[in-house]
Amino acid sequence: MATIIPVASFDCVVFGATGDLTTRKLLPALYYRYKDGQIPGTSRIIGASRSEMSVEAFRERARDALKRFVPARDLDEDKLAAFLDHLDYVAVDGAGDDGWEDLAAKLAERPDQVRPYYLATSPDLYGSICRNLSVHGLIGEKSRVVLEKPIGKDLKSARAINDAVGEVFPEEQIFRIDHYLGKETVQNLLALRFANTIFERLWTADVIDHVQITVGETVGVEGRAGYYDTSGALRDMVQNHLLQLLCLMAMESPLTLDANSVRDEKLKVLRALKPITPHDVQAVTVRGQYAAGAVDGKPVQGYRADLGGETESRTETFVALKLEVQSWRWAGVPFYIRTGKRLPQKLSEIVVQFRASPFSIFPAESFGREPNRLVIRLQPEEGIKLEVMTKDPGPGGMRLRPTNLDISFEETFKQRYPDAYERLLMDVVRGNATLFMRRDEVEVAWAWADSLLKAWADRPEPPRAYPAGSWGPTAAIALIERDGRTWHEEMH
Ligand code: BG6
Repeated sequence: MATIIPVASFDCVVFGATGDLTTRKLLPALYYRYKDGQIPGTSRIIGASRSEMSVEAFRERARDALKRFVPARDLDEDKLAAFLDHLDYVAVDGAGDDGWEDLAAKLAERPDQVRPYYLATSPDLYGSICRNLSVHGLIGEKSRVVLEKPIGKDLKSARAINDAVGEVFPEEQIFRIDHYLGKETVQNLLALRFANTIFERLWTADVIDHVQITVGETVGVEGRAGYYDTSGALRDMVQNHLLQLLCLMAMESPLTLDANSVRDEKLKVLRALKPITPHDVQAVTVRGQYAAGAVDGKPVQGYRADLGGETESRTETFVALKLEVQSWRWAGVPFYIRTGKRLPQKLSEIVVQFRASPFSIFPAESFGREPNRLVIRLQPEEGIKLEVMTKDPGPGGMRLRPTNLDISFEETFKQRYPDAYERLLMDVVRGNATLFMRRDEVEVAWAWADSLLKAWADRPEPPRAYPAGSWGPTAAIALIERDGRTWHEEMH
């Protein structure tokens, strides 16, 4: 078990304290960090939302949330009771004037605490919450503001949010969350590339044929149809999570691990992404929308029925793209990325497909000239697998077959994998922004997404229907097979 170093004592104000994110992710993450002794006993987690509620009632809600979202084996009654004692609550109207004096009075009790303000609200409120924090004198050197996605729905709205927040917080105090960056295996990508000599030297167009990034989900839109229908998979997943994974895959070595060095390198990748134009949108993109089908053996309805019978929606729930990073390192290496709801598996992985050996000395009947493949599995069953060719044992002659050098993190480290939010929340308290997005990154990613959204909007055809429980429309398979390549799972 790794040594846990406690963070500084803090007062974390969570706006949107009764919302889904707080219930499902933030409270469980803070509970685990408390249970492991990382949160000092003088810290407070102050829920803030419009509802009038007593502290006791808020603690009861939190107890229910933890019982639902933390596995029973990790819920120690004493620790749970002690954790709940650190919870406080104030009714504050993020958009108006009510409650701010109460919040100010509460925070004034402990003026020296680190103060993360977590905005787990609708982004419409980010500007007014920040203004209020400033008007009430609640921003100091030890304050930080944490912004959840979506940061806008296009470049213009993202700029407006960034301007409003930037008016009162300097960039170093703004922590834009992309929770994929907090996932253990995503950070492992940095370790794999920059703590080993063997891979980095092969990380070029000379040796790599192409890269695949898949983020598949089995869930549909759940209770978020209202938000999702104005967003779609490109805004919800690609503009942030998938592009961030692509950046970590493709970036040059940063000078150090400090926030700006890493973010400078990611930014260069985003700038090198070839914009998708109306001219090539048909050839390099596929949009899909799930229709009725079956997931995990259970019948499920289609997206439009999930919206309550809305028949006109053209929102995409699946995207497959062929991307190009225009740089010396990556010239000619396609990055195929895809993500979707209601796919057969919850699976996130990055596949690096190396080129085939240029020539085979083995006889044709030896079966084998499979190119090597590196599979970085982000979830579930986190791990890294390198497929190499080996000789089939026995006297039957020189027959080859692919075999795996396989590291399963669970088996190797035999410990619970912390949720991304645990790491990210502690980084906020520590003031370490390496795993958070800087303003320019978000805006360059939006500029790229905007050109694709525009190209799609100009097309007459709607997204292609795919049955729930499949890997998207068949056109997504054609997208990669046209190039003589195959999506990873289809090979098995
Ligand atoms: C969120 C998206 O950012 O990421 C959701 O808004 C998506 O639509 C979720 O389900 C996926 O995250 P994870 O960690 O479950 O892969």
